Parts: sequence; structure tokens; C-alpha cells
Amino acid sequence: MTHQARIAFIGGGNMARSLIGGLIADGYAADRIRVSEPDRARGERLAAEMGVTVLEDNREAADGVDAAILAVKPQVIRTVAEQVGPTLTQHGALAVSIAAGVRITDLERWLGPPSAVVRCMPNTPSLVRSGATALCANTAATEAQRELAESLMRAVGQTLWVEDERLMDAVTALSGSGPAYFFLVMEALEEAGVELGLEREAARLLTLETATGAARMALESDDTPAQLRQAVTSPGGTTEQALNVLEDADLRGAIRRAAQAAATRADELGNLLGEQ
Ligand SMILES: NC(=O)c1ccc[n+]([C@@H]2O[C@H](COP(=O)([O-])OP(=O)(O)OC[C@H]3O[C@@H](n4cnc5c(N)ncnc54)[C@H](OP(=O)(O)O)[C@@H]3O)[C@@H](O)[C@H]2O)c1
Repeated sequence: MTHQARIAFIGGGNMARSLIGGLIADGYAADRIRVSEPDRARGERLAAEMGVTVLEDNREAADGVDAAILAVKPQVIRTVAEQVGPTLTQHGALAVSIAAGVRITDLERWLGPPSAVVRCMPNTPSLVRSGATALCANTAATEAQRELAESLMRAVGQTLWVEDERLMDAVTALSGSGPAYFFLVMEALEEAGVELGLEREAARLLTLETATGAARMALESDDTPAQLRQAVTSPGGTTEQALNVLEDADLRGAIRRAAQAAATRADELGNLLGEQ
């Protein structure tokens, strides 16, 4: 049923392109998707490659759709929400925001009442359809609208609902900023491999395949990451020596402080964006 909805993307950048690609691969009809994009060349590319209808006017794109996905940078979202809000609320259509940090109360204020809103927090692996997205709806959003928003985000990865919006800061600290934590570990491991004598390309390949393999194993196994770690740590072996060094360096504490710092910053940014 959700594949029958008419949707508009306001902003046709990286996230919109990934979402549209995922939806079409998932069987969504391109003629049900509109995009408004100010960059003419980017819009023409989207129309040619995806078969979607591209318009230059945000209000025109939002007119008559079931949902509009506000896929612009957080700094632009207020302008865009104020433009399309009256059109969406007039038809009881849903506004889906994927802008990092922008709160539901601010979206409601900019869109105008009574607006149905779903706020999403996707992450960058969404660009390769391995995203993790948390969603949070306001009370005006119906069950069908929640399902629609979820089906849109499932096109680029896994989804989960958060009922208390304040937890979106925790989500930002985990999955939103999280890819960068793992990139840092990959950088460090690759560097260590080079110092141990491996060619850089070999060190990178071994690092990346190990990261992918560990993540896939953890996802597919019934065991917790702690159990998987214990299973590969033989007493007196090499892994044990390495893990002792990481524990002595308080890697766990550093990760806890990093996530707390990210959550605090997410809260500050939410305040700043709301004041704009
Ligand atoms: N990329 C990610 O992985 C990721 C992850 C989590 C959340 N997000 C969120 O997703 C949103 C979009 O990110 P993105 O990476 O897709 O950004 P992006 O590539 O910059 O896409 C935004 C698009 O919107 C267009 N635009 C600018 N002003 C507009 C307006 N007034 N009306 C309509 N369109 C307008 C931009 O055109 P111009 O370039 O010509 O300005 C651009 O094509 C952001 O709010 C971001 O926080 C992204």
C-alpha cells in the first residue's frame, strides 16, 4: 500500500538520490516520485537516470503528494518547511525530515499546524544502502503515515522507532556519528599494519575486510559481541595480548566519553537550529 503513495523530495542531493535509488530498486514506480531541485543539471541527471519528475518549484512539487521528504541541509530546512507547509497541511500530507538535529517542535512551527511530521536520523552508510535510521513521529502522524515514512527509510537500510524524541541525541551519538568512530579505528589499524611491514594496499584491504567480516558475524550470530570476542581470545594467544593493551588504554572509557560528547553537541545544535 505504501508503494502506491505519491511522494516528493524537496532537495535532490546525495540522500535524496540514495533514497530514490533504493525505492525504485524496491519496486516503487518512478512516476509516483517528484523531486524539486534548484540545481538544474543535478535535476536533469536525476530525471534521466531515475525516471522521476523533476521540478524547480518546491510548492509545486509538494502539491497533492501524500508525503514530502525534506532532503535539504539543516540550515535550509526552515525556508523549505515554510514554503511547503501550507500545501502539505491543507491535504493532511506528511512531512518527513531527514535533517540532522532539527526538532519536531521546530518543524511543526515552520510547517504550520496541524502538521503530521516524522523526524528521521539516517547515517552516511545509507548512501550505500547499509544505513541505520531512527524515526520519531509527532502525535498528528497516523499509523499509515508512520508506515510510509518507515518504508521510505527501509529502502536504504535498517530502521527503528524512537518514541521519546530526546533519545534522538543518543541515536546521533551512536549511529549518526558512529561511522566516523569506526573509520578512525580502520585508519589506525591500517597504519599499524604498514608499520608492521605490510604494503598500504594490503593493510587497507585486510583492515576493511576484517571490519566488514566482524560486523557481519556480529549481525548474523546469536552471540553478543562480548561472547564473540571471548570466543576468539585464547588464553596466552595473540588476540589476548592486543586486547590487554586496548583495555589498559581505557578504550571503553574513551568510547563512552566520545558518545557523551556527541550527544551533548547534538542537543546544542538542536537548540541553535531551533533559534534560527
Ligand atoms: N548524507 C548523509 O549521509 C546524511 C546522513 C544523515 C542525515 N542527512 C541529512 O540529509 C539532508 C540532506 O543531506 P545531503 O547529504 O543529501 O545534502 P545535499 O547533497 O547537499 O542535498 C541537498 C540538496 O538540496 C538542494 N537545495 C538547497 N536549497 C534548496 C531549496 N531551497 N529548495 C530545494 N532544494 C534545495 C541542494 O542544492 P544546492 O547544492 O544547489 O544547494 C542539494 O541538491 C541533510 O539535512 C542532512 O543533515 C544526510
